Amino acid sequence: MNGNTTKVIKISDLYNDDIQYACDILKNGGLVAFPTETVYGLGACALNPEAVKKIFEVKGRPQDNPLIVHLASFEQVNEVAYVEEKYVNVIKRLTPGPVTFVLKKKSIIPPEVTAGLDTVGVRIPAHPIAQRLAQCAGPIAAPSANLSGKPSPTDAKSVIEDLFGLVECIIDAGESAFGIESTIIDLTKEKPLVLRPGPITIEELNEIFKEFGGVEFYVPKADEKPLAPGMKYRHYAPEKTLKMVEPEKIQEYANKDVLILCTLETCEKYLKDAKNIHIIGEYARPYTIAQNLYKSLRLVDKSPYPEAVIEKLPEEGIFFSIMNRIKKAVSKF
Ligand code: TXA
Ligand code: MG
Repeated sequence: MNGNTTKVIKISDLYNDDIQYACDILKNGGLVAFPTETVYGLGACALNPEAVKKIFEVKGRPQDNPLIVHLASFEQVNEVAYVEEKYVNVIKRLTPGPVTFVLKKKSIIPPEVTAGLDTVGVRIPAHPIAQRLAQCAGPIAAPSANLSGKPSPTDAKSVIEDLFGLVECIIDAGESAFGIESTIIDLTKEKPLVLRPGPITIEELNEIFKEFGGVEFYVPKADEKPLAPGMKYRHYAPEKTLKMVEPEKIQEYANKDVLILCTLETCEKYLKDAKNIHIIGEYARPYTIAQNLYKSLRLVDKSPYPEAVIEKLPEEGIFFSIMNRIKKAVSKF
């Protein structure tokens, strides 16, 4: 990047000059942070190895962690990867949406994108701005638009915190709807294998992949290189100590020098008179928790409290994906 000013643009009109401006940056090998329905992405032209390398530099991302390729339509998937006929219908059913498929890659995708793997993660985002960018300047390689190790950004403010001065352009389109990254499904194995839980739940996928006997959930063995290389890295964890606590035990922290991250319901039941609370969403509406989670985790380091606790949640449905992130955030490794 020449100089170090980043243009931040608010998008109110989809087919406006600002979108064209962002597309031109991508086509010319620059980096654009853009909204998707999961989290914000940091995009580069996927067919330009030099541009892709910049993503790794800017984020401080380990070289062995492959990037997801963002596309506008199912037709574009065939340009970058091989799709087994038996999976065409399920892919069409789940896209556009918050899901990534790992497929055998075609040679058009350079090894810089896939960290040398012979597979590529493809995603067709539903967000209209991501769609439009992929139409005009796709395919777009994009990891989440955070510095490596930090929580993914779910609004432009968080992107600006991490990347201002490091990228050409940041598109501000408000808050991401889901707030956690896409569900990743590997379709190159014997059975569809969920590598990362996300907004599309395992229960939903078992229904959608019924004719294939449902999906398996991948748990890396201790001595094994994980199939989604990114899953082995420390993620989301604040600098300060963060512990997970059962809701029944959370009142021990009321009005102590600890920030409490909890659901509205737990707050009302156990913490009525406490001041040191940040509400992460409603237990009865768990997608609100997903949407607020990363902003809440970023708050831990910003708050005046020296440490924090977060409420332990159940592990079914969307809660399972939320707990996957919380467990990473409370682990130091
Ligand atoms: O929702 C999302 O997926 C967001 C938005 C921006 O699309 N992107 C995202 O990218 O979360 P990133 O780079 O933060 O996470 C991608 C994950 C990493 O864990 C990476 O290892 C895995 O996907 N991955 C990418 N390509 C893969 C492949 N070919 N095989 C296995 N895992 C792959
Ligand atoms: Mg990420």
